[in-house]
Amino acid sequence: MTQTLTFLGIESSCDDTAAAVIRHAPGDVPQILASVVEGQTALHAAFGGVVPEIAARAHAERLDHCVEQALVESGLALRDLDGIAVTAGPGLIGGVLSGVMLAKGLAAATGLPMVGVNHLAGHALTPRLTDQLAFPYLMLLVSGGHCQFLIAHSAERFQRLGGTIDDAPGEAFDKTAKLLGLPQPGGPAVQAEAALGNAKRFAFPRPLLDRPGCDMSFSGLKTALLRARDAVIAERGGLTVQDRRDLCAAFQLAVAEVLAEKTRRALAIYLEHDPAQPALAVAGGVAANTLIRAMLETVCAKAGVRFLAPPLRLCTDNAAMIAWAGIERFRAGMVDDMALAARPRWPLDATAAPMIGSGKKGAKA
Ligand code: KG4
Ligand code: ZN
Repeated sequence: MTQTLTFLGIESSCDDTAAAVIRHAPGDVPQILASVVEGQTALHAAFGGVVPEIAARAHAERLDHCVEQALVESGLALRDLDGIAVTAGPGLIGGVLSGVMLAKGLAAATGLPMVGVNHLAGHALTPRLTDQLAFPYLMLLVSGGHCQFLIAHSAERFQRLGGTIDDAPGEAFDKTAKLLGLPQPGGPAVQAEAALGNAKRFAFPRPLLDRPGCDMSFSGLKTALLRARDAVIAERGGLTVQDRRDLCAAFQLAVAEVLAEKTRRALAIYLEHDPAQPALAVAGGVAANTLIRAMLETVCAKAGVRFLAPPLRLCTDNAAMIAWAGIERFRAGMVDDMALAARPRWPLDATAAPMIGSGKKGAKA
């Protein structure tokens, strides 16, 4: 399909309500005409995690405003669009349903084609939106809800090499922050403390490194941190500022080393596919971590693989990635009809063994 396409994207699978408009002429760099993201952090702050009912209600209330704002910002009307892309899963079902129902309403009213997008495919295709990356490339999704290695072979074919069997790394950062009395989201807070700490003071485990493959586990690290914290408190009657910094530094180093070693293994499998322009791209909030990013860059440099980290606003949840994935799927001939279902679980790679567990942000893939 060689025509220029302008797509609206809708995202509501977790705690960000988002709408975006993307235009793409084949051969050209895609243009993000608008990308509106309304976070719900304040709504969930008092509860220590995302409350699905509150999230669903906020999506239902705010989605149409976000769509309207995205259209205003792009200077377009619904009639100027060529299609509507919507996250149809995986995620918190109330939110996904809000988005899918809105997309169906818009499609019915306008006659525009509608494309259901897997949220993880949205993340995984982002390096093509930002850097026009050629297939096949290796993708590491690391956020509060996701953690997996994928080889993106095409817009429809993703091969999962492994992922977390329990918590996502962002979730582990958030729980660590909670255990140490630091603010949420925990990642930036733990990173700031870690910068002033001594990582060698506590010997935290490197879970699953003794086993082959790319699967990971982060919940044991959180337990190790809890034990180390309690031991310090039992010995000294409390935590000093330096104790907290050292605990953060040791925890962060453990996560970074696990991710680096598993990335080495994932790269080895990926390189067997003999990619013409080998590349690893990361997505998700944890990719903002300076130490993790630096260690991944080193692993890639040693393997002769290009390292890409799209800008953070496109790495974290947004609707531009959904609009883009919708365009890619539409060009590949995929369109949905009114039977499009909202799916709480939707593995990107149906042939891979299912992942165990579920993160703080609901159902995983
Ligand atoms: O991708 P994201 O915005 O949302 C989803 O989880 O989908 O990622 C948020 C997660 C949070 O758990 C947050 O603590 C973590 O990313 N995070 C970080 C850093 N910045 C954000 N983790 C480690 N280091 C950081 N600098
Ligand atoms: Zn996400």
